[in-house]
Amino acid sequence: MSRPFVFVTRQIGSAVLEKLAAMADVEVWPLSTPPPYETLCEKAVNASALITMLSDRIDASLMDAAPNLKIISQMAVGVDNIDVHHATQKGIVVGNTPGVLTETTADLAWALLMAVARRVVEAHNEVQQGIWRPWGPYVLCGQDLFGATLGVVGLGRIGQAVARRAAGFSMKVLYTNPRRNPEAEARLGAEYVTLDELLSRSDYISLHTYLSSQTRQMISHEQFARMKPNAILINTARGAVVDTAALIEALQQGKIAGAGLDVTDPEPINFDNPLLRMPNVVITPHIASAGTHTRERMAHMIVENVLAVFNNETIPYCANPEVYGHQ
Ligand code: DGY
Repeated sequence: MSRPFVFVTRQIGSAVLEKLAAMADVEVWPLSTPPPYETLCEKAVNASALITMLSDRIDASLMDAAPNLKIISQMAVGVDNIDVHHATQKGIVVGNTPGVLTETTADLAWALLMAVARRVVEAHNEVQQGIWRPWGPYVLCGQDLFGATLGVVGLGRIGQAVARRAAGFSMKVLYTNPRRNPEAEARLGAEYVTLDELLSRSDYISLHTYLSSQTRQMISHEQFARMKPNAILINTARGAVVDTAALIEALQQGKIAGAGLDVTDPEPINFDNPLLRMPNVVITPHIASAGTHTRERMAHMIVENVLAVFNNETIPYCANPEVYGHQ
């Protein structure tokens, strides 16, 4: 019997690849940029497994042209780049990497929050450019975190990890979520409120929702209008959860005080986007889970998922468990 073919869309550690190579013919895309969609489709034709990243578009027509495809194993917790519904209909398992990146992502949300609140990047840029303003009572003053109110939109794993860190700053925590979570509320000392109330009471608003038709552009003109003028928006979820044009307008008109974004819409952000020239905006290129150990663990999980399929086992980290009823 011929060995299954696995296409990996980015270089991952050689140790995990060796595990795969013991059971399959493995081809790794050699560049650090994603393979073009057409290449991905060509590779998928013969693939039993695809190991994908969130920048790879895995749509219905790609799957329809891939008769042997059994698993799409994604190196991310979010799978919004994959047509998961179609995969399920076709009996294709979609794997992801939940849990392992929670704390690393929460750390970066806080890094952005602190950087914007205390103008860290702006100050660093001045120093780097040879500008060291004499100490002055109001030079580079920012906002306190201590005692402020943090609003967490989406109290899942990452939202909870972000909320937990707020205790270190004696912050008041508000949260909103499709379902109230009394256990987490008690543990985190968080108050459950509607989104509108959260927006109008929070000094810092951190987004932790999946991207879906319900959450796409959920933060738009109306939501910015409710925010406090000192509010700082942090997005480590998905860029399209925020209406970019509305965000630019809110910042330009002083409706909010700043933003820290690890995700943008589109990605990469266009170089002429006004957000890139705003001193009160800090942008990182979707690196929230980029801790070395976290990424190593994610690489192990995606390979474990593929090996489970080859061994006819249920995969340990599954984004579409309902698929097992379709197989
Ligand atoms: C995820 O896992 O969905 C993150 O966005 C990757 O960093």
